[in-house]
Amino acid sequence: MPRIALNFEDGITQFINADEGESIADAAYRQGINVPLDCANGVCGTCKAFRQSGEYDPGSYTEDALSDAEAVGGYILCCQAKAKSDMVIDILASCGACKVKSEKIVTEIVDVESLSAHRIRLSVKPLERGLPMFLPGQYVNITAVNERVTRPYSFTSAPGSNVATFLIRNLPDGSMSAYLSAKARRGDRLLLDGPFGSFYLRATRRPILFIAAGTGVGPFLSMLEHLAIRGNCDQAVRLIYGVRDPADLVEIGRIEALTALIPNFSYETTCSGPGSQHPLTGHVTDHIGAEALNHGDADVYLCGPPEMVESGRRHVAKFGLSPANVYFEKFVCISPQAGVLDEARP
Ligand SMILES: Cc1cc2nc3c(=O)[nH]c(=O)nc-3n(C[C@H](O)[C@H](O)[C@H](O)COP(=O)(O)OP(=O)(O)OC[C@H]3O[C@@H](n4cnc5c(N)ncnc54)[C@H](O)[C@@H]3O)c2cc1C
Ligand code: FES
Repeated sequence: MPRIALNFEDGITQFINADEGESIADAAYRQGINVPLDCANGVCGTCKAFRQSGEYDPGSYTEDALSDAEAVGGYILCCQAKAKSDMVIDILASCGACKVKSEKIVTEIVDVESLSAHRIRLSVKPLERGLPMFLPGQYVNITAVNERVTRPYSFTSAPGSNVATFLIRNLPDGSMSAYLSAKARRGDRLLLDGPFGSFYLRATRRPILFIAAGTGVGPFLSMLEHLAIRGNCDQAVRLIYGVRDPADLVEIGRIEALTALIPNFSYETTCSGPGSQHPLTGHVTDHIGAEALNHGDADVYLCGPPEMVESGRRHVAKFGLSPANVYFEKFVCISPQAGVLDEARP
């Protein structure tokens, strides 16, 4: 039974299953999601949506509802289209308009490990239902129930795992940092709300370059583990992972193991701290040239602190990368006391 990820305009994703021959709109309704709909007959175009990936039968409709140019450009009509494989679809409406609520799941801590002075690995498992479905690269809002603190964190585990893992920066005087580094214990309750975000692995149609700074490597671990499980990636995949302090180059064992599981996967690490003895030094962008970007024909994913993401976007634009092929996530610090803080560094 095909599984369809519906991405709403406000960044929330919901998963539905579609029966054979069932339209996407009918499948969504059956599962409590009211995608925009009017004629339900392929005439008005109200249910137009954008197909990110997946095979489908477009059904029948009028040119007024969906022009040939729109169909070629990736648009579908949800009242007519039937999924023939798993799909990812952008719904052109907010989840509020479609009466969707994000999923809240109570979990307990299975493990909380200090990987370095500045890095924490958190593992949680669900207490009642399974973990939320998500696309590799997405995040959830995690609430430490006893502390009343909520922060967004990206999954590092692949979708479908029984235990969800996260890689978290331990910030001086950070509220979640203080809880996880000093107080958190096995069995503590954490509430997961999500999944959210448009930073997720797209269909692999051209060489892929993952550019990570600091804990920004987290969502790439999830994407790489997903590629390893899926097992049919025929594109070159390269990760460039930078930190300031070599002690913070964590999860290397996990990345190294993935080189044996993904045929065309390679990675490099770089350290930008002063006097570094690491084989590669400097920032991630110092090691990205025309060849790494396949002379402009590549999909580039950037994740980390806002300033690194911005300089990375400017850097790849110089090599002719279309902005449509550049995906990014900024790990902005959102503190309830201070509002949005930009100072999170790798
Ligand atoms: C979509 C998204 C995904 C993310 N994914 C990850 C991830 O996978 N891993 C990860 O490590 N991070 C991630 N982040 C960042 C993360 O959510 C937190 O912002 C970060 O972990 C800090 O949380 P904290 O509670 O420890 O610190 P906070 O309490 O938020 O404080 C952050 C910093 O601000 C300082 N500060 C706090 N209050 C004030 C104040 N009033 N004035 C001045 N300074 C102040 C603190 O000293 C601290 O250094 C993500 C962010 C976003 C937006
Ligand atoms: S609802 Fe009218 S075309 Fe789909």
